[in-house]
Amino acid sequence: MRVLITGASSGIGREFALQYAAAGHDLVLVARNVERLHALAADVHSQFGVDAQVLAADLSNRAQLTIVEERLRSDSAPIDLLVNNAGFGTTTSFGTADLHREQEMLEVLVVAVMRLTAAALPNMIKRRSGGVIVVSSVAGWMPGGTYSAAKAWATTFVESIAGELRKTGVSAMALCPGFTVTEFHERAGIEREAVPRFLWLDVRDVVASAIRDYSRGKVVCTPSLRYKALGLFMRTLPRWIWRALNVGLSGPRR
Ligand SMILES: NC(=O)c1ccc[n+]([C@@H]2O[C@H](COP(=O)([O-])OP(=O)(O)OC[C@H]3O[C@@H](n4cnc5c(N)ncnc54)[C@H](OP(=O)(O)O)[C@@H]3O)[C@@H](O)[C@H]2O)c1
Repeated sequence: MRVLITGASSGIGREFALQYAAAGHDLVLVARNVERLHALAADVHSQFGVDAQVLAADLSNRAQLTIVEERLRSDSAPIDLLVNNAGFGTTTSFGTADLHREQEMLEVLVVAVMRLTAAALPNMIKRRSGGVIVVSSVAGWMPGGTYSAAKAWATTFVESIAGELRKTGVSAMALCPGFTVTEFHERAGIEREAVPRFLWLDVRDVVASAIRDYSRGKVVCTPSLRYKALGLFMRTLPRWIWRALNVGLSGPRR
């Protein structure tokens, strides 16, 4: 199998690369930080003997996104699994937010996910095998700014294409992790201490759950019992209570 992973230079994406490489799968690694991608490619090649191609692309840039779309459409060395993982968050309230950054978020979390999935599916459907994982979030179950709205889109998008793909041999899964220790929070300006310790997940466990659930054909994967229970609560809490709480990624929005 050959797996294309966006946002492979760090965190959840990097861990997908390590775990799929350990299982003997070839990789295509996508992100902006090419030094990190080349180091990871060399590492998985020497550790596991797999082939890892590096594709530098800023997914908020439509021209650079095209490079990844073309790789997904290519018939030579075809992609069997697309992991749409790249992303980032912010904590500022929409009223005072940097609009350029909000739009960039939608480009990476929504437009890139939609376009890359559209590029990958026709070849997979033709071969009657393959799949797409979209790294969404439990944040999609509550109102929390552009980030939550984008993750709500991601989960709904996957659920709908999973229905359409039934009987094609191709699958789709949304991964909905809770707080996971990666560079995400530092980049978003979220203090780790602001989040209770029991809510933190280990990135290795999150990715192991995702790989297991994907191989079982699940459509939505929520790693850990804690978040499965919390997810039930989050999805049934009346929306007016969520609105009154005004919760962002790390508590009340600034
Ligand atoms: N950590 C959590 O608590 C958590 C929880 C739920 C969902 N998630 C989701 O998990 C995914 C991965 O995040 P993470 O936690 O692993 O964070 P991370 O460690 O900050 O990694 C984010 C990855 O996305 C890439 N990326 C960001 N903007 C990009 C762009 N414009 N073009 C290409 N690549 C870009 C980064 O690579 P470069 O900087 O090299 O481009 C990096 O590889 C995200 O979609 C996030 O929303 C995270």
